[in-house]
Amino acid sequence: MSIISKDIAKAVELLSNEELVAIPTETVYGLAGNIYSEKAITAIFETKQRPKFNPLIVHIPSVAYLEKIVTDIPEKAKLLADAFWPGPITLVLNKKDTIPDLITAGKDTVAVRVPNHPTTLELLERLEFPLAAPSANPFNRISPTKPEHVEDYFKNEIKMVLDGGACTKGIESTIIGFENDQPVLYRHGSTPIEAIEAVVGTLHIKNKNEVAPSAPGMLERHYAPKTKTVLTDDLQKTINDHSGKRIGLLLYNDILNDDLIDFKIVLTQGQNLEEAASKLYDALHQLDKQDLDIIIAERLPDFGLGKSINDRLLRATK
Ligand code: TXA
Ligand code: MG
Repeated sequence: MSIISKDIAKAVELLSNEELVAIPTETVYGLAGNIYSEKAITAIFETKQRPKFNPLIVHIPSVAYLEKIVTDIPEKAKLLADAFWPGPITLVLNKKDTIPDLITAGKDTVAVRVPNHPTTLELLERLEFPLAAPSANPFNRISPTKPEHVEDYFKNEIKMVLDGGACTKGIESTIIGFENDQPVLYRHGSTPIEAIEAVVGTLHIKNKNEVAPSAPGMLERHYAPKTKTVLTDDLQKTINDHSGKRIGLLLYNDILNDDLIDFKIVLTQGQNLEEAASKLYDALHQLDKQDLDIIIAERLPDFGLGKSINDRLLRATK
């Protein structure tokens, strides 16, 4: 029997009994549990096989709820919360003492966001506690953007995937921390840098050496298919270099001459970066099922969501 269900009341009951439920968000599906339940949080780490040093994101129902979770909110954090929540931006702020260390991996800061999905907003309204929810994939694997992706990974480990359809954004939230009250990018994501800078001015961007391990979304290998994957600016040459192999293509632009190709997915017909982002992980899931020797991915334009997609593709190649 399928564990996928639209029954919000059942999700409320399971979560209130310290069990895990996979929940839909606009970015990716999350593996959710009560932030105050040691049993639930321990189960999240064990189910994902995620190292305990990698902290979780707390999901809250509204901007107003933020003050129950954090202290000392910088002015620019308020501006970002008001501009983008509910939506795909996560803010890392000083935690209140009531937030368990298990959530934050012992840090004084906590990552928090209001997800923009009607089902999960209703769920959060009905619960008496916020939800910790990392992406609902085993550590380092491709994130889930459809309920079926979660079911494939975890049908033996969890009782329920709350069905919210396919995720509209398709890439994780952008993570912003604050250093001396100034915003710093910790992870590229579904809110483009340009949109954030329009609200708070120039963002400092941490390189991965500075960041690790404070935001393991920045860990080198991540979001990865099992199939060997390469990222290229020169499709034809890379295809020629691998002739004789079973090749799968992940394309931004359709190409005409593709006789040598066993399987191909074009992410968007009209060079639409939002469409490409929303299809990215499902395309990687599909390609990974084709028993290919190699996945060749075409690099996208390096602006807006193109930057975030390239970031994920690069990590998939490590
Ligand atoms: O879109 C999303 O953000 C999804 C959905 C489910 O909301 N969640 C998600 O969670 O991507 P996860 O656990 O896969 O990624 C959380 C990231 C990790 O890279 C973690 O290191 C970082 O957030 N993070 C959490 N707390 C942090 C903190 N206190 N300081 C710095 N980074 C933190
Ligand atoms: Mg993740």
